[in-house]
Amino acid sequence: MPEDFVVTPWEVVGEVDYDRLIEKFGTSRIDDALLERFRKLAGELHLMLRRRIFYSHRSLNWVLTEYERGNPFVLYTGRGPSGHTHLGHLMPWIFTRWLQEKFNAKLLFQLTDDEKFLFKPELTLEDTRRFAYENALDVIALGFDAKKTEIFLNTEYIKSQYRLALKVAKRTTFSTAKAVFGFKNETNIGLIFFTSMQSAPCFLESERQGKAVPVLIPCAIDQDPHFRITRDAAPHLGYPKPALIHCKFFPSLLGGGKMSASKPESTIYTTDSPSGARRKIMDAFTGGRETARLQRKLGGNPSVCSVYQYLYYIFEDEDEKIKQRHRACTGGELLCGECKQYLAEKVERFLIEHQKRREKARDVLEDYMVRD
Ligand code: TRP
Repeated sequence: MPEDFVVTPWEVVGEVDYDRLIEKFGTSRIDDALLERFRKLAGELHLMLRRRIFYSHRSLNWVLTEYERGNPFVLYTGRGPSGHTHLGHLMPWIFTRWLQEKFNAKLLFQLTDDEKFLFKPELTLEDTRRFAYENALDVIALGFDAKKTEIFLNTEYIKSQYRLALKVAKRTTFSTAKAVFGFKNETNIGLIFFTSMQSAPCFLESERQGKAVPVLIPCAIDQDPHFRITRDAAPHLGYPKPALIHCKFFPSLLGGGKMSASKPESTIYTTDSPSGARRKIMDAFTGGRETARLQRKLGGNPSVCSVYQYLYYIFEDEDEKIKQRHRACTGGELLCGECKQYLAEKVERFLIEHQKRREKARDVLEDYMVRD
């Protein structure tokens, strides 16, 4: 049977079935017991855990056990700097910041200016470097601890990573890479090597400390294929396998699918003006009926509504309030205009604050960046 959706790090096509993705990728669901364990250790559960947005994992139990035994983990995540940051990118970073705070963890943040140069025909190395520095401002604006966070561009931190990347490359055949990523004969050879670059930070801290340091990678589930390769190589190289915690994709404002940078109206960028963001929200796809009269009678459909999803994923932190909104929508009491206003206000407030912090981040950028 042909697959009705495809997810690789470079391509998401069709309507993603997240349950089937767990089977396809061979990851594990975060079950109630694991959530409870998390709650005990962190003291609370982040909205993205409570609402199953971070819903899948690899080796998370192991990482928590090591933590309990006094062997803390390092966090590792990253960004491919192909443009400005949008809310979809921010989502896993917001969660990562929460993890840093709750587990007092160090964070390695990789900006893959090499990857996006190789992948995007139209982008030069200067472009991807420029975007990398723009994106770094967004990372810093989220409030990561400067003493515990290292941000680097691959082209500027290659010496520290290259030996590790080579070790992974030597353990990975072309046929594996081809099967995992769908490479063709036309694929440039830089991309074929690239997965070893994304693997390198998984072993960096073990290498520095000269002992097995656990690593936990929070990321969107499309990045998992890279780390399957990393995890296969790890035992052969004498390093622990990195653990992962995967999130779903942030919804598009146009409904369906993953938020896409190729359609600016489907996304809100951190650099959008608050009024511009409001406009996008007022034009967003909702689960509303054709007329207000019909909606009062039949109720709306929050499960396909991007406005509801935005609130559910990030902007409505109170569980009681989101439940209430769901009820009011399906019951026909709440109309889309009102709901959009509510979200627009929250997003505007968020953007104003974020943009202030983003400007301040320019002054402290160098406290975070590492180069070699
Ligand atoms: N390849 C990722 C992207 O395109 C960037 C990235 C590098 C990353 N290292 C990572 C993402 C580790 C998650 C975790 O966005």
